[in-house]
Amino acid sequence: MRILFIADIFGAPGRRIVEQRLPGLREELALDLVVANGENAADGVGITSRIGKRLLGVGVDAITLGNHAHRQREVYPYLNTEPRIVRPANLPAASPGRGETVVRAADGTEVTVINLLGRMHLEPAVSPFEAGPALVEAARLRTPVVLVDFHAEVTSEKVAMGRLLDGSATAVIGTHTHIQTNDPTVLPGGTAYLTDAGMTGPHDSVIGVRADVILARFTTGLPSRFDARFFGISEREAESMDPQQRLVLEVAWEALERAGQDAAGLRNSRTGVFVGITTADYARVILQGRPEDVDAWFASGTSLNVVAGRLSYTLGLQGNDGGTGLDGSVTHMEELAYQRWEGEQIAEETFFYDPAQRVPKRPAGG
Ligand SMILES: [Fe+2]
Repeated sequence: MRILFIADIFGAPGRRIVEQRLPGLREELALDLVVANGENAADGVGITSRIGKRLLGVGVDAITLGNHAHRQREVYPYLNTEPRIVRPANLPAASPGRGETVVRAADGTEVTVINLLGRMHLEPAVSPFEAGPALVEAARLRTPVVLVDFHAEVTSEKVAMGRLLDGSATAVIGTHTHIQTNDPTVLPGGTAYLTDAGMTGPHDSVIGVRADVILARFTTGLPSRFDARFFGISEREAESMDPQQRLVLEVAWEALERAGQDAAGLRNSRTGVFVGITTADYARVILQGRPEDVDAWFASGTSLNVVAGRLSYTLGLQGNDGGTGLDGSVTHMEELAYQRWEGEQIAEETFFYDPAQRVPKRPAGG
């Protein structure tokens, strides 16, 4: 029986390569079963239902998760209803999802896939050393093959788990560190073992995240700010921008990630961008309070009608774009969005810098 285990799929680059290569690999390697860790599939943190469906749609038979299993709230119902996705079995029993599943391989063999979370630097509800053996032994009575994804930080813990389950699990494969270890082995009791499978994602990075972002975090100790460079904006220009523009870029990026859409794949497509923004008071606050902040970027940074264009430009989209400053337009667009993407959440943020903005809307004498 040939099982392919795909290490932690990280963000759009990881999803892209799986979507491109897996259908061919299934044929080429005559695979009977494909199990993938999808713990970092949504922009590095967690997974969404759309991404889960896409991975299952391109030939993944079972998805395992880890410490980020519940990071995307949207995925909770999916974790409860889709039997082919598992979160760590030793998370609280009341949390969404299941910790093990049975899938049928191409040759007809039934395989139990179990997900366990390590104890060190992570937060399982129950020790994996307590939960693991009982789960594997029970699974072994039901199916001839039992695969364990042990999502853990520390190598010693993983090696120990391999030894503990040796002879009862068919394979114990470690995930989470994103660094592949060079120790694939068959343990004395016959269990296939690998301390960590590594990462399916951007290798020119620090475990998936752009190196300069991580280095800035380590060298300054400061939380990361708006990543202007990521959106092709200079630091100086970013400082002059109405924060609504930054939010639009960030929220749009996150929405694409959650939808499992690869932003690079949308480049040059006829994708439209429509943005509703309610108020231009940021510009007024600058003009009133800090006129020295009026610089070359003031006009583009504080105009509402450039927001949609900025997003189109950043992502290289070729469809229509439009922005509007009317309160009602936000409601209208939200309704449209609900009609189109029923069941999806729409992000909406409203900021007021200038209290005068709301005063005219109060009832007389109020
Ligand atoms: Fe992880």
